[in-house]
Amino acid sequence: ILRKVKNLNFEIKYKDGRGRVGILKTPHGTIKTPALMPVIHPGKQTIQVADYGAEVVITNAYLIYKNDELREKALQDGVHELINFPGPIITDSGSFQLSLYGDVEVSNQEIVEFQEKIGTDIGTSLDLPTPPSVKRERAEKELKITLQRAQEALEVRKELMLNSVVQGSTFPDLRSECAQALGEMDFQVHPIGAVVPLMESYRYHELVDVVMSSVSYLPDSRPRHLMGAGHPMLFSLAVAMGCDLFDSAAYILYAEADRLLMPNGTLKLENLYEMPCSCEVCTNYTPDELRGMEKEKRRDLLAIHNLRVSFAEIRMIHQAIIEGSLWELVEQRCRAHPFLLEALRNLKNYQDDLEKYDPPYKKSAFFYSGPESLNRPEVHRHLERVKRIPPKKSVLLIPRTTKPYSEHLHHIPLEFYRIKGEPNLENSAEDRQVTVVDVPFGVIPLELDQLYPLAQNESPRIHDEDSILMVKNILHDYIKDFEEVIVSEKVLRTFRLDEEFPTKDEYSEPLEIIVDDVERIKMIADYQFGSGSGEALFNTSVQIVKSRKTGKIRHVYDGDELIATLRASDGIFVLAREGARRLHRYLPYPKNRVVVNEDAEPFAREGKSIFAKFVINCDINIHAKEEVLIVNEEDQLLAFGKSILNGKEILDFNTGQAVKTRKGGL
Ligand code: GUN
Ligand code: ZN
Repeated sequence: ILRKVKNLNFEIKYKDGRGRVGILKTPHGTIKTPALMPVIHPGKQTIQVADYGAEVVITNAYLIYKNDELREKALQDGVHELINFPGPIITDSGSFQLSLYGDVEVSNQEIVEFQEKIGTDIGTSLDLPTPPSVKRERAEKELKITLQRAQEALEVRKELMLNSVVQGSTFPDLRSECAQALGEMDFQVHPIGAVVPLMESYRYHELVDVVMSSVSYLPDSRPRHLMGAGHPMLFSLAVAMGCDLFDSAAYILYAEADRLLMPNGTLKLENLYEMPCSCEVCTNYTPDELRGMEKEKRRDLLAIHNLRVSFAEIRMIHQAIIEGSLWELVEQRCRAHPFLLEALRNLKNYQDDLEKYDPPYKKSAFFYSGPESLNRPEVHRHLERVKRIPPKKSVLLIPRTTKPYSEHLHHIPLEFYRIKGEPNLENSAEDRQVTVVDVPFGVIPLELDQLYPLAQNESPRIHDEDSILMVKNILHDYIKDFEEVIVSEKVLRTFRLDEEFPTKDEYSEPLEIIVDDVERIKMIADYQFGSGSGEALFNTSVQIVKSRKTGKIRHVYDGDELIATLRASDGIFVLAREGARRLHRYLPYPKNRVVVNEDAEPFAREGKSIFAKFVINCDINIHAKEEVLIVNEEDQLLAFGKSILNGKEILDFNTGQAVKTRKGGL
C-alpha cells in the first residue's frame, strides 16, 4: 500500500543539558517545545485552556469512542470541533484506562482507525502500560505485545501520525530495547509510558533510570513526551533529561481536591492564610472566599491557578535553556522534596551521556548550589579535557584567589610544601605547571583561568565535606603525572592533604609564578580542540594582540594572517580562516568535521549555514556550540563554523540548521 503519512517538522533552536527549546510544526499549527499539553476531558471540559497558555492539548480517544453521543459528533465534525480547540491535538488510546481497570472495550486496530477518522493530529496505539517492579517475565511478555501493537498501528493507519509509547517497567535494559526498536520505526513522537505510578509514589530516583534508559536510545530528532507528568516541580528535571512534552490532568485533578500546584510542591487550600502567587485567582480572591464558594466555581478557579503556575514554569524552562542556566533551575526545584534530591543525585550515573548533549559554552555562569553540582556535566567535561594538556616536570598547587586567578596572585600565601619528588634546583618556572585548586572544578591550570566555565562560576568560599573529598580525589589523580609536587600551605589545610601526605617538607626556594602568553594560547587550544592543537595552530612565530582596555589576549596572528580570536565573553578560541586550515591539517578525519554532500558544497563555500539534511557524516564527539570544520566527502575544507547541535543530533536530524557557518571560501 502506498501511504502518504503526514510528518512533523521538529527543529532544535537552543540546548542546555539534554534539554532543548524546539519548534514543532503540526498540521494544526506550530508550537514551541518544551510544551505542556493540558488534558481535555471530552464532554466534561469547563475551562478554555488556550486562554491560559495552551498551544497543544491532549484528549482521550477511548473516552470519545465509548460514548455514543461524543463518538457520533467526533466522527461527523472532527475532534477539533468536538473539544473546541483549533490547535494541535494529540489523542491517547485508552491504555491508561487499561492500566487502571485491567481491560478496555476496544481493539488496537479499532482505536487507531478511530483516531484517524476523527482527525487527530497525533494518535496513539493501545500499548500495555506495565507497572513498575513487576516480575521480569511479565515485563518482557507485555513489551512484546506493546511492540506488536505499535507495528500493527503502522500497518492500519493511512495518513495518521503516531505516538509510540516506550514501556518496559523499571528494567532499564527493556526500556532501552523498546526505545531502540520503536526508534527504528516510522513514528513521529515517543511518549515514555507507565511512569504515573512512579510519580504518584515519589519514586523519582527510578523515574530518572526509566527516562534516561529510554531517551538515550530514542532518535534525537523526535519529540519525547513524559506521559502523565503534570506537576510543575518535575518539569525542569524531565526537560534536562531530554523530555519535550508533558501532559497535565493534574491542573484539574488537584483543583478537584482543593490543591494548588506550585513550582516547589503542592499547597492545600484548607491550610492557606494567604494566596501564594500573583496569578489572577490569587490576587482577586482570599483563601476564605475560595473556601466559601460552591465547589464547581472553586474548582475552576483553582484549575486556572494551576494552569498559570504550570505554564509559567514552562516559560522559565525555555528561558533557562536559552541562557544556559537549566542546571541551576533543576537544582533549585529538586530541593522541593528529598526524593527529588535523590533523583538529582542519580544523574551522576548518566554523566557521560549528559556531557555529550550539554553545550560546553553558555551565556550564564555556573552556580554551585551544593555537592550535587559537582556531578554536573561541566565538571565531568573539565576533568576529561584537562587531561589533554601535556604535563610538565613539576606542579605548584595554589589556593583560589579572586577570579580570574592569574590577576590576583598577590593574595597567595608564601609557605609551600613539597609532597612528592626531590627538590630539583634545575627545575625552572618553565618546567613548572601552576595550578589553582578550587571547588567545583578541582584543578585549574593557571593558563586556563579565563576560560568558560573555569572563570564564570561561583561557589562558597567555605567548602563542605563532600567538596573537600571530591577535590582530594581529583588532586590524587592529577598529581600522579608530575615528578615533583609543591603545594601551598593553604591548599594543604583547606583540602586536608596533610593527613594524606605526612612527609611534607617546607620548601624554602622562592617560587616564580608566571603565565606566559604563548603557553596560554597553546594550552587553551589543547583544552578546546585536543592534545597537540596548540602546537598545530601556533607553532610559527605568532603575534599576540591584546585588548588595550582589559590587557587580555584578543587576536593571534601569523604576520598579517589572523589565526584565531579569543572571545572575550568566555575565553575560547573562535577560528579564522588560517586557524581552520591549520586545524584541518592537524586533526585526523573525521575529528571536528561536519561532512556535507555535493549539493550543499557550493552553499558551504559561500558561507551559508549548513542544514542537517545535507550532512552525510560527522564527528559524533562534536558538542553543540563548538568550532567545527565543514568539509566535503574528499575531506576538502569548504568552510568553518559553530555547531548548533551535537554530532549525534546532526546525523539524526533532517530538519533545521546543524552549523552556523562563520566563513566559507577556503
Ligand atoms: N497515560 C499515562 N501513562 C500512559 C501509558 O503508559 N500509555 C498510554 N497510552 N497513556 C498513558
Ligand atoms: Zn495563583
